[in-house]
Amino acid sequence: MPTVYRETDVAPLLQKAVAVLGYGSQGRAQALNLRDSGVELRVGVRPGASAERARTDGFEPVSVRSAAEGADVLALCLPDVEMGRMFEEEIRPVLREGAALVFAHGFAVHYGLVQAPQQADVVLVAPMGAGPVVRQRFEEGSGVPGLVAVGQDATGTALEVALGYGSAIGLGRVAMLETTFREETESDLFGEQAVLCGGLPELMRASFRTLAEGGVQPEIAYIAAVHEVKLIVDLIYERGLDGMVQSISGTAEWGAYEAGPKVIGEESRNGLRELWERVRSGAFARDWIEEAASGGNELARRRKVFLDDPLHEVGTSVRGWTDLSATTRG
Ligand SMILES: NC(=O)c1ccc[n+]([C@@H]2O[C@H](COP(=O)([O-])OP(=O)(O)OC[C@H]3O[C@@H](n4cnc5c(N)ncnc54)[C@H](OP(=O)(O)O)[C@@H]3O)[C@@H](O)[C@H]2O)c1
Repeated sequence: MPTVYRETDVAPLLQKAVAVLGYGSQGRAQALNLRDSGVELRVGVRPGASAERARTDGFEPVSVRSAAEGADVLALCLPDVEMGRMFEEEIRPVLREGAALVFAHGFAVHYGLVQAPQQADVVLVAPMGAGPVVRQRFEEGSGVPGLVAVGQDATGTALEVALGYGSAIGLGRVAMLETTFREETESDLFGEQAVLCGGLPELMRASFRTLAEGGVQPEIAYIAAVHEVKLIVDLIYERGLDGMVQSISGTAEWGAYEAGPKVIGEESRNGLRELWERVRSGAFARDWIEEAASGGNELARRRKVFLDDPLHEVGTSVRGWTDLSATTRG
């Protein structure tokens, strides 16, 4: 059982010069939550859409280098694969001794893209939620849970900084679970590949196709294979997988035991082991870093293939029926 921390004192953070670098999904949410918690901060971004957004939100954005200069706490809310280059070019030259580098995901540290100097604290404060959710829950007076880890403790206060930062962005209102950079990085990558962004969407697409080929009207196929996933996920989120099977009909439960092992058979189990090995060995990270460095053409090609699917148009029309989407909000 991981150690669980709740809200800690943010007062030490109020005395520090804080810089949020990047103002995208996480950067914006964290910067706004920090400000609402009374933390004074600088936002560092390049000119463009993010900088405009920060200005609209009442910040006066500066360059990444200017924000990093003299900062005690630096939150690197930048693209994972860009972080190494940006750290060397914009951050390391102005990094003050004893500063804390705060990461929202362990990728860049675990795979060696960012190698911090020995005099810096390196901590992970990883919200378990997309940026807009981190912000929305905070505004509602709650938060999302998060993972915290200490990668390097140069000052002896790295954990205190991580917990103070996590509390200031709202994670401490729920729970901050202690982990390691390695565990967070590998479990996060595996989870998004095997289930969240890879496995589950592919299962939805394949099921939609099977139903449509079987003569089911596309809208009905979409509802059965894609749209209704939210209802079951909400149930699992609230009551767990055990609570879910106790809430569904006997017909659904009997069908589930028949179908589950057929859908996830030996081939799929081997595929999952292979994914895990690729994450563990660093092979996945190596390929992705190379792809990003060479301009992301293969990523663009695969995205085009993914988007070239009649399913999406059907989805747009289904989501347009307001009374149907109202039932999924309940
Ligand atoms: N997305 C999530 O919900 C989520 C959840 C948990 C953890 N994380 C982690 O949070 C970190 C940030 O991810 P994100 O999703 O927030 O990224 P993002 O939405 O892509 O935002 C990246 C930010 O970095 C800026 N940026 C990119 N290249 C830059 C450059 N060369 N110079 C200056 N600024 C630059 C972008 O500005 P421009 O607009 O100018 O490109 C943007 O403001 C990552 O470590 C990620 O793994 C994200």
